[in-house]
Amino acid sequence: MSHFKTLDDLGDVTGKVALLRVDLNLPMKDGSATDVTRVEAAKPTILELCDKGAKVLLLAHFGRPRGQRHSTMSTSFVQGDVEEVLGKEIMFIPEVMGPVVEQAVGILRDGDIGLLDNVRFWPGEEANDPDFARGIAAIGDFYVNDAFSAAHRAHATTEGLAHLLPAYAGRAMEAELKALDAALGNPEQPVAAVVGGAKVSTKLDVLQNLVGRVQHLIIGGGMANTFLAARGVDVGQSLCEHDLAGTARTIMDEADHAGCTVHLPYDVVVAQQFAANPPSLRTCNVHEVASNEMILDIGPQAVEALGDVLKTCRTLVWNGPLGAFETEPFDAATVALAKTAAALTQDGSLTSVAGGGDTVAALAHAGVKDDFTFVSTAGGAFLEWMEGKELPGVAALNS
Ligand code: 3PG
Repeated sequence: MSHFKTLDDLGDVTGKVALLRVDLNLPMKDGSATDVTRVEAAKPTILELCDKGAKVLLLAHFGRPRGQRHSTMSTSFVQGDVEEVLGKEIMFIPEVMGPVVEQAVGILRDGDIGLLDNVRFWPGEEANDPDFARGIAAIGDFYVNDAFSAAHRAHATTEGLAHLLPAYAGRAMEAELKALDAALGNPEQPVAAVVGGAKVSTKLDVLQNLVGRVQHLIIGGGMANTFLAARGVDVGQSLCEHDLAGTARTIMDEADHAGCTVHLPYDVVVAQQFAANPPSLRTCNVHEVASNEMILDIGPQAVEALGDVLKTCRTLVWNGPLGAFETEPFDAATVALAKTAAALTQDGSLTSVAGGGDTVAALAHAGVKDDFTFVSTAGGAFLEWMEGKELPGVAALNS
């Protein structure tokens, strides 16, 4: 477990300027955010700092403007959403350092909030340029990082600032790190991991890390097809990375040596075309997939068996859906297993941690997002953590 300072370690911060890194990279439609979970996650930290009398300057990126001002990527676009979640007005400041910011800080009263513009408008952010970081640090008295979902980036405001000012983890960061430690760092065993999604190639490092750490590895989604094919199953027209058959076999061998059981489905839901409720829909044994059919979900018997596996486990970490869950009825396996995991969590027999954009959407679709022990706000950072990598933004907070 990392050793980092939290807001509990702050002394009197009345009138002090807090540089607070948050993740306001919100999905947008027609000018407003379609999901404000990340703002809600940062809210306790923002309001706690306000209550303590600090002047809070929010640092955030929005999109990938690659070191240039971009009219559609100003953080001013999310100002309204942030104000709504916080129930508080904030001042937009169209810079990140220099006289404009200094003047704004002079206007802000204790407990007020300023939103600086997109830190990625300046090349120094992604380059983690020490001069850029020093320019920002000059305005602040201390730094708080509450953006776990950006902690896999070694950027000036996610990593560099932590070396220049007294640095603290915000409440959301603290909760993420504790939950992730309980899931993979120091978990109660047996541990199960569900890894789904379209492609093995995007999750090779995740799989390689997990086989040495968990007792049950449940593979779903298009990835399962690659593993099935590697075991000699004819997967017909299914999404499958045939060129990774050797890699899949190596992962299965490594799992065997480590005492990790790899679970692949033995019944599957197939169709001749990928569409909602297609007429060719049927459920069959994996060995009966016809050459003109594709696997689009795990079958009901496999789901039941996986539910039984979860009943024997104390910890679950979940990334990626089991089937093509955006299209009915190929959401069935994901929904059913998510409900089982949620019920076991609510009964107190399972600690369940999930993360990644698709996964959170799938759990919300299953109506169980609030019944898991912890659902991470992170996408890429969650995956890198599952890969066993040290996240630079987290490492920099370690004291
Ligand atoms: C995310 O949306 O996952 C984070 O904000 C990180 O964004 P990035 O992938 O553009 O660094």
